[in-house]
Amino acid sequence: MDDAEHSRRRQERERLRREQPQLFADVTEILAQHDPVGLVAVGAPRDEYEAEAGTIIPRLDSAADARDVHRILVEEFDRWFGRDTPKMSAGDFAGVAEDVWAAWLRDVQYGPQAARWTETAYADPYAYLAHRAELILSLGPKLEPGDALLDLACGDGGLAEHLPGIRYRGVDTSPDMVESARQHGRDVVLGDLNEYEPPEPVAATTCFRAIYYARDREAFFRHAAGYTEKKLVFDLNPRQYRVADVRDDLRRAGFNELELRPFFSPQRFSLPGLAVSALHALERSPLAGLLLRVRFSYLCAAFRNE
Ligand SMILES: C[S@@+](CC[C@H](N)C(=O)[O-])C[C@H]1O[C@@H](n2cnc3c(N)ncnc32)[C@H](O)[C@@H]1O
Repeated sequence: MDDAEHSRRRQERERLRREQPQLFADVTEILAQHDPVGLVAVGAPRDEYEAEAGTIIPRLDSAADARDVHRILVEEFDRWFGRDTPKMSAGDFAGVAEDVWAAWLRDVQYGPQAARWTETAYADPYAYLAHRAELILSLGPKLEPGDALLDLACGDGGLAEHLPGIRYRGVDTSPDMVESARQHGRDVVLGDLNEYEPPEPVAATTCFRAIYYARDREAFFRHAAGYTEKKLVFDLNPRQYRVADVRDDLRRAGFNELELRPFFSPQRFSLPGLAVSALHALERSPLAGLLLRVRFSYLCAAFRNE
């Protein structure tokens, strides 16, 4: 690396340290903990991997999941240390990738928005969440007052307000989201949807705008099936996932029935009441499939029919 490149990288690193101090500190510490090249183990300081953090972080914007982060890490460590330097195996980098991805979600993607998540993520939060709640109760096996519901990746748990009579608990991996939910008096705990298990089985498990955080979709469905008595409800973008593939994963995980309903509530703009009613009426019309080709998602209720 020549002097000009060296100086460019140093300036970029200083900019990141100034603009994203938390993420910069977290990624540097994660790299020290995993110590991919064994430098900390032989006495290097904990900030030894700052230079690598400085070239990894700007690429995280392009990552859609931990798998992408894994590829970035392997490429960056090859670039810094050469293919022949002894490093962690690609398999061992998977754990580093999970931790860096979690830090990215926590520090950049969701943390800063947590204090006002529901108010800012939805143009008309009341209409949007009320419609979601209505379908949670009615799609597939009905929920009854007193039923327990576990809302995975719940954000600030704003959905709870729309499910009176249901015993709501949320789980989220972002400490800022959990804190924000608690400030609103909601029962929300810190946890990862891939691993969290409620103390008692629940009637329903929900997961909205977060199914892509399941590391292995079928394993996630099987895990949820283990503690879910009536149904698992989630949203699915058919332009992103093939419904047939998801149905197969659900079946293998023990949910042999799947009820789908187009969910036509705009997230980013609000509409007058009449237009909202017209959109909701479209959900049950033969035209729904056409609209789903370009916008909106399905709401899915998966359950067992023994
Ligand atoms: C797009 S927001 C959706 C929040 C809420 N479900 C909603 O529909 O408004 C995604 C949420 O998933 C959380 N999250 C990301 N990965 C997670 C994981 N592995 N386990 C639990 N929560 C996760 C984020 O912190 C964030 O609050």
